[in-house]
Amino acid sequence: MDADGSTTALAVDSTRFRHVVSHLASGVTVLTARDGESVYGMTASSVTSLSVDPPMMLACVNRAVPTAGGISRSGSFGVNVLGEGQGDIAEQFATRSRNKFRGIQVRAGELGMPLILDALAYLECEVVEEIAGGTHVIFIGQVRSASARVGHPLTYYRGDFGRFEFARDDDVYKRAREQVLNRIYGADDVVVLEDIARALDVDKSAAFYALTRLAADGLVRRDPELGYVVNPFDARTSDATFDARLAIQLGVVEQVVDKASEASLRELRRRFEAMVVLLVGDRFVDFGAYLDANYRFHEWIVDLAENPLLTATFGGLSIKTVMTRSFGSTPVTSQAFVDVQRRITEAFEHRDAEAAKAALRDYCALAKERVREILHHTGGRL
Ligand SMILES: Cc1cc2nc3c(=O)[nH]c(=O)nc-3n(C[C@H](O)[C@H](O)[C@H](O)COP(=O)(O)O)c2cc1C
Repeated sequence: MDADGSTTALAVDSTRFRHVVSHLASGVTVLTARDGESVYGMTASSVTSLSVDPPMMLACVNRAVPTAGGISRSGSFGVNVLGEGQGDIAEQFATRSRNKFRGIQVRAGELGMPLILDALAYLECEVVEEIAGGTHVIFIGQVRSASARVGHPLTYYRGDFGRFEFARDDDVYKRAREQVLNRIYGADDVVVLEDIARALDVDKSAAFYALTRLAADGLVRRDPELGYVVNPFDARTSDATFDARLAIQLGVVEQVVDKASEASLRELRRRFEAMVVLLVGDRFVDFGAYLDANYRFHEWIVDLAENPLLTATFGGLSIKTVMTRSFGSTPVTSQAFVDVQRRITEAFEHRDAEAAKAALRDYCALAKERVREILHHTGGRL
Protein backbone atom coordinates (compact mmCIF):
# COMPACT_ATOMS: atom_id res chain seq x y z
CA MET A 1 0.00 0.00 0.00
CA ASP A 2 1.26 3.51 -0.80
CA ALA A 3 1.31 6.37 1.65
CA ASP A 4 -2.01 7.70 0.40
CA GLY A 5 -3.63 4.27 0.76
CA SER A 6 -3.67 3.59 -2.99
CA THR A 7 -2.13 0.69 -4.86
CA THR A 8 0.08 1.00 -7.87
CA ALA A 9 0.35 -2.71 -8.70
CA LEU A 10 -0.93 -3.43 -12.20
CA ALA A 11 -2.75 -6.63 -11.31
CA VAL A 12 -5.68 -6.08 -8.98
CA ASP A 13 -6.98 -9.28 -7.43
CA SER A 14 -10.71 -9.83 -6.99
CA THR A 15 -10.69 -9.37 -3.19
CA ARG A 16 -9.05 -5.97 -3.47
CA PHE A 17 -11.22 -5.00 -6.42
CA ARG A 18 -14.39 -5.86 -4.49
CA HIS A 19 -13.21 -3.93 -1.45
CA VAL A 20 -12.20 -0.85 -3.42
CA VAL A 21 -15.21 -0.78 -5.72
CA SER A 22 -17.57 -1.18 -2.74
CA HIS A 23 -16.71 2.47 -1.98
CA LEU A 24 -18.67 3.51 -5.06
CA ALA A 25 -22.02 4.43 -3.49
CA SER A 26 -25.11 3.75 -5.56
CA GLY A 27 -28.88 3.74 -5.58
CA VAL A 28 -30.71 0.42 -5.61
CA THR A 29 -33.17 -0.83 -8.21
CA VAL A 30 -35.14 -3.97 -8.87
CA LEU A 31 -34.95 -4.97 -12.53
CA THR A 32 -38.05 -6.81 -13.67
CA ALA A 33 -39.14 -8.63 -16.81
CA ARG A 34 -42.09 -10.67 -18.02
CA ASP A 35 -41.77 -13.49 -20.50
CA GLY A 36 -45.22 -14.99 -21.14
CA GLU A 37 -46.44 -16.26 -17.77
CA SER A 38 -43.03 -16.03 -16.12
CA VAL A 39 -42.02 -12.95 -14.14
CA TYR A 40 -38.44 -12.09 -13.18
CA GLY A 41 -36.99 -9.66 -10.70
CA MET A 42 -33.54 -9.00 -9.26
CA THR A 43 -31.86 -6.35 -7.19
CA ALA A 44 -29.39 -4.37 -9.26
CA SER A 45 -27.22 -1.36 -8.59
CA SER A 46 -25.35 -1.38 -11.91
CA VAL A 47 -28.13 0.54 -13.60
CA THR A 48 -27.68 4.02 -14.95
CA SER A 49 -28.98 6.51 -17.45
CA LEU A 50 -27.08 6.46 -20.73
CA SER A 51 -28.39 9.30 -22.84
CA VAL A 52 -31.11 11.91 -22.61
CA ASP A 53 -31.91 12.27 -26.30
CA PRO A 54 -33.01 9.63 -27.03
CA PRO A 55 -33.73 8.64 -23.42
CA MET A 56 -31.74 5.47 -22.80
CA MET A 57 -30.74 3.36 -19.81
CA LEU A 58 -28.22 0.62 -19.31
CA ALA A 59 -28.26 -2.28 -16.90
CA CYS A 60 -25.44 -4.74 -16.20
CA VAL A 61 -26.71 -8.21 -15.34
CA ASN A 62 -24.85 -11.39 -14.56
CA ARG A 63 -25.65 -13.66 -17.48
CA ALA A 64 -25.95 -16.63 -15.08
CA VAL A 65 -28.99 -15.25 -13.24
CA PRO A 66 -32.47 -16.13 -14.49
CA THR A 67 -33.44 -12.46 -14.88
CA ALA A 68 -30.80 -12.06 -17.62
CA GLY A 69 -32.56 -14.67 -19.77
CA GLY A 70 -35.94 -13.20 -18.85
CA ILE A 71 -34.94 -9.73 -20.09
CA SER A 72 -33.40 -11.16 -23.26
CA ARG A 73 -36.49 -13.16 -24.14
CA SER A 74 -39.01 -10.44 -23.27
CA GLY A 75 -37.01 -7.74 -25.08
CA SER A 76 -37.94 -5.26 -22.34
CA PHE A 77 -37.15 -4.55 -18.72
CA GLY A 78 -38.59 -2.52 -15.89
CA VAL A 79 -36.41 -0.45 -13.53
CA ASN A 80 -37.92 0.01 -10.06
CA VAL A 81 -35.89 2.58 -8.11
CA LEU A 82 -36.30 1.71 -4.44
CA GLY A 83 -37.06 4.25 -1.70
CA GLU A 84 -35.17 4.54 1.59
CA GLY A 85 -37.65 2.30 3.46
CA GLN A 86 -37.44 -0.56 0.96
CA GLY A 87 -34.25 -2.32 2.04
CA ASP A 88 -36.28 -5.49 2.75
CA ILE A 89 -37.48 -5.54 -0.87
CA ALA A 90 -33.87 -5.19 -2.05
CA GLU A 91 -32.86 -8.14 0.16
CA GLN A 92 -35.74 -10.23 -1.15
CA PHE A 93 -34.89 -9.64 -4.79
CA ALA A 94 -31.20 -10.28 -4.17
CA THR A 95 -31.94 -13.76 -2.83
CA ARG A 96 -32.49 -16.59 -5.26
CA SER A 97 -35.98 -18.04 -4.80
CA ARG A 98 -38.74 -19.68 -6.77
CA ASN A 99 -41.12 -16.91 -5.86
CA LYS A 100 -39.24 -13.64 -5.91
CA PHE A 101 -42.48 -11.62 -5.79
CA ARG A 102 -43.80 -13.20 -2.55
CA GLY A 103 -45.79 -10.54 -0.67
CA ILE A 104 -44.83 -7.82 -3.17
CA GLN A 105 -47.62 -5.78 -4.72
CA VAL A 106 -47.07 -5.06 -8.40
CA ARG A 107 -48.90 -3.51 -11.29
CA ALA A 108 -48.26 -3.95 -14.97
CA GLY A 109 -46.54 -1.02 -16.69
CA GLU A 110 -47.24 0.22 -20.21
CA LEU A 111 -44.89 -2.40 -21.69
CA GLY A 112 -46.37 -5.01 -19.36
CA MET A 113 -43.29 -5.07 -17.06
CA PRO A 114 -44.05 -5.79 -13.37
CA LEU A 115 -43.70 -2.50 -11.47
CA ILE A 116 -43.44 -2.58 -7.66
CA LEU A 117 -46.07 -0.45 -5.92
CA ASP A 118 -44.56 2.34 -3.81
CA ALA A 119 -41.16 2.25 -5.53
CA LEU A 120 -39.61 5.71 -5.68
CA ALA A 121 -39.41 5.80 -9.49
CA TYR A 122 -40.08 3.57 -12.49
CA LEU A 123 -38.77 3.25 -15.99
CA GLU A 124 -39.70 0.74 -18.65
CA CYS A 125 -37.21 0.13 -21.43
CA GLU A 126 -37.16 -1.73 -24.72
CA VAL A 127 -33.88 -3.55 -25.24
CA VAL A 128 -32.04 -2.13 -28.27
CA GLU A 129 -28.67 -3.75 -27.71
CA GLU A 130 -27.06 -6.48 -25.63
CA ILE A 131 -23.31 -6.26 -25.11
CA ALA A 132 -21.19 -8.97 -23.49
CA GLY A 133 -18.99 -7.67 -20.65
CA GLY A 134 -17.02 -10.26 -18.65
CA THR A 135 -19.48 -12.42 -16.74
CA HIS A 136 -22.21 -9.87 -17.38
CA VAL A 137 -24.41 -8.70 -20.18
CA ILE A 138 -25.05 -4.98 -20.62
CA PHE A 139 -28.61 -4.30 -21.69
CA ILE A 140 -29.11 -0.99 -23.41
CA GLY A 141 -32.73 0.05 -23.37
CA GLN A 142 -34.76 2.81 -24.93
CA VAL A 143 -37.01 4.35 -22.29
CA ARG A 144 -40.72 3.97 -23.11
CA SER A 145 -42.32 5.02 -19.83
CA ALA A 146 -41.02 6.83 -16.74
CA SER A 147 -42.45 8.27 -13.52
CA ALA A 148 -41.27 9.23 -10.05
CA ARG A 149 -42.81 10.21 -6.73
CA VAL A 150 -41.52 12.50 -4.02
CA GLY A 151 -39.24 10.70 -1.55
CA HIS A 152 -35.70 9.66 -0.73
CA PRO A 153 -33.75 6.80 -2.32
CA LEU A 154 -32.39 3.63 -0.77
CA THR A 155 -28.58 3.63 -1.05
CA TYR A 156 -25.93 0.92 -1.12
CA TYR A 157 -22.42 1.51 0.13
CA ARG A 158 -19.69 -0.89 1.26
CA GLY A 159 -22.10 -3.83 1.48
CA ASP A 160 -24.77 -2.01 3.50
CA PHE A 161 -28.09 -0.48 2.64
CA GLY A 162 -28.58 3.04 3.91
CA ARG A 163 -30.02 6.40 3.08
CA PHE A 164 -28.65 9.73 2.03
CA GLU A 165 -27.32 11.75 4.87
CA PHE A 166 -28.42 15.21 4.03
CA ALA A 167 -26.16 18.05 5.10
CA ARG A 168 -29.05 19.47 7.11
CA ASP A 169 -29.44 16.21 9.10
CA ASP A 170 -25.71 16.09 9.68
CA ASP A 171 -25.76 19.61 11.02
CA VAL A 172 -28.60 18.72 13.42
CA TYR A 173 -26.63 15.70 14.63
CA LYS A 174 -23.56 17.85 15.25
CA ARG A 175 -25.55 20.39 17.21
CA ALA A 176 -27.27 17.66 19.29
CA ARG A 177 -23.86 16.09 19.91
CA GLU A 178 -22.49 19.41 21.12
CA GLN A 179 -25.39 19.71 23.56
CA VAL A 180 -24.65 16.29 25.06
CA LEU A 181 -20.88 16.74 25.07
CA ASN A 182 -21.16 20.19 26.60
CA ARG A 183 -23.45 18.68 29.21
CA ILE A 184 -26.46 20.86 28.44
CA TYR A 185 -28.00 17.43 28.96
CA GLY A 186 -26.42 15.82 32.01
CA ALA A 187 -25.71 12.17 32.75
CA ASP A 188 -28.90 10.05 32.93
CA ASP A 189 -31.09 12.91 31.69
CA VAL A 190 -33.96 11.74 29.54
CA VAL A 191 -33.90 13.41 26.13
CA VAL A 192 -37.47 13.83 24.95
CA LEU A 193 -37.69 13.80 21.15
CA GLU A 194 -40.10 16.76 20.99
CA ASP A 195 -37.92 18.78 23.39
CA ILE A 196 -34.70 18.33 21.48
CA ALA A 197 -36.51 19.01 18.19
CA ARG A 198 -37.77 22.28 19.71
CA ALA A 199 -34.37 23.14 21.23
CA LEU A 200 -32.65 22.65 17.88
CA ASP A 201 -35.54 24.19 15.95
CA VAL A 202 -35.91 21.20 13.61
CA ASP A 203 -38.62 18.69 12.77
CA LYS A 204 -38.98 15.43 14.68
CA SER A 205 -37.51 13.25 11.93
CA ALA A 206 -34.23 15.22 11.94
CA ALA A 207 -34.10 15.11 15.76
CA PHE A 208 -34.81 11.37 15.72
CA TYR A 209 -32.04 10.82 13.21
CA ALA A 210 -29.65 12.80 15.44
CA LEU A 211 -30.59 10.67 18.46
CA THR A 212 -30.03 7.40 16.57
CA ARG A 213 -26.56 8.61 15.64
CA LEU A 214 -25.82 9.70 19.19
CA ALA A 215 -26.88 6.22 20.33
CA ALA A 216 -24.49 4.67 17.80
CA ASP A 217 -21.76 6.93 19.22
CA GLY A 218 -22.53 5.62 22.71
CA LEU A 219 -23.42 9.10 23.95
CA VAL A 220 -27.04 8.19 24.65
CA ARG A 221 -28.81 4.87 25.10
CA ARG A 222 -32.32 3.77 24.25
CA ASP A 223 -34.24 2.78 27.37
CA PRO A 224 -37.44 0.81 26.60
CA GLU A 225 -39.42 2.75 29.23
CA LEU A 226 -37.84 6.19 29.26
CA GLY A 227 -36.74 6.68 25.66
CA TYR A 228 -33.32 8.22 25.00
CA VAL A 229 -31.14 8.68 28.10
CA VAL A 230 -27.74 10.40 28.26
CA ASN A 231 -24.97 7.95 29.15
CA PRO A 232 -22.77 8.92 32.06
CA PHE A 233 -19.13 8.98 31.23
CA ASP A 234 -17.13 7.00 33.74
CA ALA A 235 -13.85 5.10 33.96
CA ARG A 236 -15.57 1.91 32.75
CA THR A 237 -16.53 3.57 29.46
CA SER A 238 -13.04 4.87 28.80
CA ASP A 239 -11.30 1.67 29.97
CA ALA A 240 -13.45 -0.41 27.63
CA THR A 241 -12.71 1.89 24.69
CA PHE A 242 -8.95 2.08 25.22
CA ASP A 243 -8.71 -1.67 25.90
CA ALA A 244 -10.62 -2.42 22.69
CA ARG A 245 -8.28 -0.16 20.71
CA LEU A 246 -5.29 -1.87 22.29
CA ALA A 247 -6.63 -5.35 21.46
CA ILE A 248 -7.06 -4.39 17.81
CA GLN A 249 -3.64 -2.76 17.56
CA LEU A 250 -1.82 -5.65 19.27
CA GLY A 251 -3.36 -7.99 16.70
CA VAL A 252 -2.24 -5.67 13.90
CA VAL A 253 1.36 -5.63 15.16
CA GLU A 254 1.55 -9.41 14.93
CA GLN A 255 0.24 -9.37 11.39
CA VAL A 256 2.07 -6.45 9.83
CA VAL A 257 5.28 -5.52 11.56
CA ASP A 258 7.39 -7.58 9.16
CA LYS A 259 5.29 -6.86 6.10
CA ALA A 260 4.38 -3.15 6.23
CA SER A 261 5.82 -1.29 3.24
CA GLU A 262 8.43 1.42 3.73
CA ALA A 263 5.95 3.93 2.28
CA SER A 264 3.31 3.05 4.85
CA LEU A 265 5.83 3.40 7.68
CA ARG A 266 6.83 6.81 6.31
CA GLU A 267 3.16 7.72 6.45
CA LEU A 268 3.00 6.56 10.07
CA ARG A 269 5.95 8.83 10.87
CA ARG A 270 4.32 11.71 8.98
CA ARG A 271 1.12 11.31 11.00
CA PHE A 272 3.11 11.15 14.22
CA GLU A 273 4.96 14.38 13.39
CA ALA A 274 1.68 16.10 12.45
CA MET A 275 0.35 15.18 15.91
CA VAL A 276 3.29 16.12 18.13
CA VAL A 277 3.30 19.79 17.15
CA LEU A 278 -0.20 20.02 18.66
CA LEU A 279 0.93 18.98 22.14
CA VAL A 280 3.59 21.32 23.46
CA GLY A 281 4.96 21.01 26.98
CA ASP A 282 2.07 19.64 28.96
CA ARG A 283 -0.69 21.40 27.06
CA PHE A 284 -2.75 20.89 23.95
CA VAL A 285 -2.12 23.68 21.44
CA ASP A 286 -5.54 23.01 19.91
CA PHE A 287 -7.38 20.04 21.37
CA GLY A 288 -9.70 19.51 18.36
CA ALA A 289 -6.75 19.45 15.95
CA TYR A 290 -4.76 17.15 18.27
CA LEU A 291 -7.74 14.81 18.52
CA ASP A 292 -8.01 14.53 14.73
CA ALA A 293 -4.25 14.02 14.32
CA ASN A 294 -4.14 11.45 17.12
CA TYR A 295 -7.04 9.57 15.56
CA ARG A 296 -5.38 9.58 12.15
CA PHE A 297 -2.17 8.22 13.67
CA HIS A 298 -3.90 5.32 15.44
CA GLU A 299 -6.21 4.64 12.53
CA TRP A 300 -3.15 4.27 10.30
CA ILE A 301 -1.73 1.59 12.60
CA VAL A 302 -4.98 -0.34 12.14
CA ASP A 303 -5.05 0.38 8.39
CA LEU A 304 -1.65 -1.30 8.07
CA ALA A 305 -3.48 -4.63 8.35
CA GLU A 306 -5.51 -3.77 5.21
CA ASN A 307 -8.46 -5.54 6.81
CA PRO A 308 -11.73 -3.65 6.29
CA LEU A 309 -13.39 -5.44 9.24
CA LEU A 310 -10.69 -4.29 11.62
CA THR A 311 -10.81 -0.75 10.27
CA ALA A 312 -14.61 -0.69 10.65
CA THR A 313 -14.40 -2.07 14.20
CA PHE A 314 -11.84 0.57 15.11
CA GLY A 315 -14.09 3.23 13.57
CA GLY A 316 -16.98 2.07 15.75
CA LEU A 317 -15.13 2.51 19.05
CA SER A 318 -16.14 6.17 19.56
CA ILE A 319 -12.54 6.96 20.44
CA LYS A 320 -12.97 10.62 19.59
CA THR A 321 -16.04 10.94 21.79
CA VAL A 322 -14.32 9.29 24.72
CA MET A 323 -11.29 11.53 24.31
CA THR A 324 -13.44 14.64 23.95
CA ARG A 325 -15.41 13.80 27.09
CA SER A 326 -12.23 13.23 29.10
CA PHE A 327 -9.04 14.81 27.72
CA GLY A 328 -11.09 17.52 26.03
CA SER A 329 -12.33 18.84 29.37
CA THR A 330 -8.96 20.46 30.18
CA PRO A 331 -6.12 21.91 28.09
CA VAL A 332 -3.65 20.36 30.52
CA THR A 333 -2.13 17.03 29.50
CA SER A 334 1.29 15.39 29.51
CA GLN A 335 4.33 15.12 27.21
CA ALA A 336 4.40 11.46 28.23
CA PHE A 337 1.72 10.87 25.55
CA VAL A 338 4.09 12.14 22.88
CA ASP A 339 7.00 10.09 24.22
CA VAL A 340 5.12 6.82 24.24
CA GLN A 341 3.65 7.41 20.77
CA ARG A 342 7.18 8.15 19.52
CA ARG A 343 8.19 4.73 20.91
CA ILE A 344 5.29 3.14 18.98
CA THR A 345 6.42 4.83 15.75
CA GLU A 346 10.07 3.85 16.22
CA ALA A 347 9.20 0.26 17.08
CA PHE A 348 7.30 -0.05 13.80
CA GLU A 349 10.20 1.55 11.94
CA HIS A 350 12.61 -0.97 13.52
CA ARG A 351 10.12 -3.77 12.83
CA ASP A 352 10.37 -4.69 16.47
CA ALA A 353 7.07 -6.37 17.37
CA GLU A 354 7.82 -6.78 21.07
CA ALA A 355 8.79 -3.11 21.48
CA ALA A 356 5.69 -2.01 19.54
CA LYS A 357 3.41 -4.11 21.74
CA ALA A 358 5.05 -2.85 24.93
CA ALA A 359 4.69 0.77 23.79
CA LEU A 360 1.04 0.24 22.79
CA ARG A 361 0.32 -1.29 26.21
CA ASP A 362 2.02 1.63 27.96
CA TYR A 363 0.08 4.11 25.85
CA CYS A 364 -3.20 2.43 26.79
CA ALA A 365 -2.30 2.38 30.50
CA LEU A 366 -1.31 6.04 30.36
CA ALA A 367 -4.58 7.05 28.71
CA LYS A 368 -6.66 5.10 31.23
CA GLU A 369 -4.71 6.58 34.12
CA ARG A 370 -5.09 10.13 32.82
CA VAL A 371 -8.87 9.71 32.48
CA ARG A 372 -8.99 8.53 36.10
CA GLU A 373 -7.12 11.65 37.18
CA ILE A 374 -9.54 13.85 35.26
CA LEU A 375 -12.54 11.98 36.70
CA HIS A 376 -11.08 12.31 40.17
CA HIS A 377 -11.26 16.08 39.84
CA THR A 378 -14.88 15.90 38.69
CA GLY A 379 -16.31 13.48 41.24
CA GLY A 380 -16.06 10.27 39.19
CA ARG A 381 -18.35 11.16 36.29
CA LEU A 382 -18.21 13.55 33.38
C1 LIG B 1 -27.38 -4.05 -3.60
C2 LIG B 1 -27.23 -5.14 -4.63
C3 LIG B 1 -26.95 -4.79 -5.92
C4 LIG B 1 -26.82 -5.76 -6.91
N1 LIG B 1 -26.57 -5.38 -8.18
C5 LIG B 1 -26.46 -6.30 -9.15
C6 LIG B 1 -26.23 -5.90 -10.50
O1 LIG B 1 -26.15 -4.71 -10.82
N2 LIG B 1 -26.14 -6.88 -11.44
C7 LIG B 1 -26.23 -8.20 -11.11
O2 LIG B 1 -26.13 -9.04 -12.01
N3 LIG B 1 -26.46 -8.62 -9.84
C8 LIG B 1 -26.59 -7.70 -8.86
N4 LIG B 1 -26.85 -8.09 -7.57
C9 LIG B 1 -27.00 -9.53 -7.27
C10 LIG B 1 -28.39 -10.05 -7.65
O3 LIG B 1 -29.41 -9.29 -7.06
C11 LIG B 1 -28.53 -11.52 -7.22
O4 LIG B 1 -27.59 -12.29 -7.90
C12 LIG B 1 -29.92 -12.11 -7.43
O5 LIG B 1 -29.99 -13.32 -6.76
C13 LIG B 1 -30.22 -12.41 -8.85
O6 LIG B 1 -31.55 -12.92 -8.87
P1 LIG B 1 -31.95 -14.25 -9.68
O7 LIG B 1 -30.86 -15.22 -9.39
O8 LIG B 1 -33.27 -14.66 -9.16
O9 LIG B 1 -32.10 -13.78 -11.09
C14 LIG B 1 -26.97 -7.14 -6.58
C15 LIG B 1 -27.24 -7.49 -5.25
C16 LIG B 1 -27.38 -6.50 -4.29
C17 LIG B 1 -27.69 -6.89 -2.89
